[in-house]
Formats: sequence, structure tokens, C-alpha cells
Amino acid sequence: MNIILLGPPGAGKGTQAAKLVADRGMVQLSTGDMLRAAVKAGTPTGLKAKAIMDAGELVPDEVVSGIIGERLDQMSPGEGAIFDGYPRTAAQAEALDQLLADRGRKLDRVIELTVDEDALVERITGRYTCAKCGEGYHDKFKQPKAAGVCDVCGSTEFKRRPDDNEETVRTRMAEYRGKTAPIIPIYEARGILTRVDGMADIDQVSAAVAAALDGE
Ligand code: AP5
Ligand code: MG
Ligand code: ZN
Repeated sequence: MNIILLGPPGAGKGTQAAKLVADRGMVQLSTGDMLRAAVKAGTPTGLKAKAIMDAGELVPDEVVSGIIGERLDQMSPGEGAIFDGYPRTAAQAEALDQLLADRGRKLDRVIELTVDEDALVERITGRYTCAKCGEGYHDKFKQPKAAGVCDVCGSTEFKRRPDDNEETVRTRMAEYRGKTAPIIPIYEARGILTRVDGMADIDQVSAAVAAALDGE
């Protein structure tokens, strides 16, 4: 199965993708994570992307579609892909169709996580991750079981994203409204769109996502 998790910044795409990876052995393809890795590694793509990401704007379509194609080539045919944060524009949606078709794959379902924008600012500014294993946490909604210690790997170091400040979040939301939300009707017309209430508890959202996938 190949699916897209769609939704504005902080909607819970990464949170739900991690759950699907753990529960179903699917592969998460997050263009945001890939770009952050490129920035950290100082690759030419990373050098180009850094300022754009820090401003909350979108990296050029050909860059992200290029890295998605490379990652799809590394997957075995039996593995399902979760596209997290991709596609984000009409051009990327078209590119994805082609990338999948070229590899004998198809898009099975698109899950739109619907959320209240004001709540998103709180979610994003409270977010942090384990510096070692990448497990996601939140100041208010998902704290480690033992304070200051990662549940998964025991690390005591955590980090926050440079674009997780209120001003940048507002720009990221405007980009979503202007460029990403307009691709939703494409999937709705194909009959593969499911809307899930992203404001529910994390576990309830997971249950709704699972139901949408198993209802196939
Ligand atoms: P990207 O990394 O994709 O960021 P984003 O879309 O802004 O989304 P986020 O990762 O912020 O949110 P999320 O939906 O994953 O939420 P999460 O699960 O973490 O992109 C970053 C940048 O890279 C872009 O701005 C752009 O510059 C560039 N880029 C990336 N892809 C691109 C593309 N395709 N084209 C062009 N440019 C691209 O949840 C957020 C927090 O809320 C967490 O702390 C979590 O614990 C908590 N939470 C989650 N669900 C719930 C819930 N149900 N209730 C309460 N809390 C919850
Ligand atoms: Mg994310
Ligand atoms: Zn960890």
C-alpha cells in the first residue's frame, strides 16, 4: 500500500507515520526529514534548502521530487510507502503519480488530517525530539515517561527545529493554504481521500487512520 498523509504543519503527519512504520512495517518518506538530514550533512541540496526552510517557504519542486524518486528506488517492492509532507504543490502531485507509475506502484489512499490552525501553533512550538533516535515529544501532549529521558533509547539529549517558532509557523501555514490545500480535490475526485479529525487524541487519530486503511 502507498499512502499520503496530508495536512498543515503540526497536523500530526510525522506522529502518525511513525505509528504506521511501527505497526505495519511501512516506510516513511518525509521530505522534511530528508531535507533536514541534507542540511545537517551540508550537501549541495542542504545548503540550498536551509534558508528556504528557515523562512518557512517551499523548497523547489524538482529538488523534493528528485529525492523522493531516489528513496523509492531504495525500497523493496513489497514495502509500502507513507508520503509525509509530500506532495505539497500541484506539480509535486503530478510528479508523484509519474514516479509511482514508473515503478509499478500506485497511490492507494490519501489521509487528510483536519485541524484547527490556532491549536497548531501550540503543538509546533511545544514540539521536540530525541537528539539520538528522533522519537517525537511535546511539552504538553507527549512527555517522556521519566522526565528528561527518552522512552525509546534512554538518551537525555533533545532538540527543537529552527523553523518551529510562531512567525515561521504562520508562513508555513500560509504556504499550506495557498499551495498544498488546492491539491486535495485531485484526490477527492479519484475517490481515494479520507478526512480524519486530527484534533482528537493521538491514539484516536491512529485508530481512525487504521480504519481508513483497512476499509480498503
Ligand atoms: P516538514 O518537516 O514536512 O514540516 P511541516 O509540514 O511543517 O509539518 P510538521 O513536521 O511541522 O508537522 P507534522 O504534521 O509532522 O506534525 P507532528 O507529527 O510532528 O517540512 C519542513 C520544511 O521543509 C517546509 O517548511 C519546507 O521548507 C520544506 N519541505 C518539506 N517538504 C517539502 C516539499 N514536499 N516541498 C517543498 N518544501 C518542502 O506533530 C506536531 C506536534 O504535535 C508533536 O509534538 C506531536 O507530538 C504533537 N501531536 C501530534 N498529533 C497530536 C494530537 N492528535 N494531539 C495532540 N498533539 C499532537
Ligand atoms: Mg513532520
Ligand atoms: Zn531516543
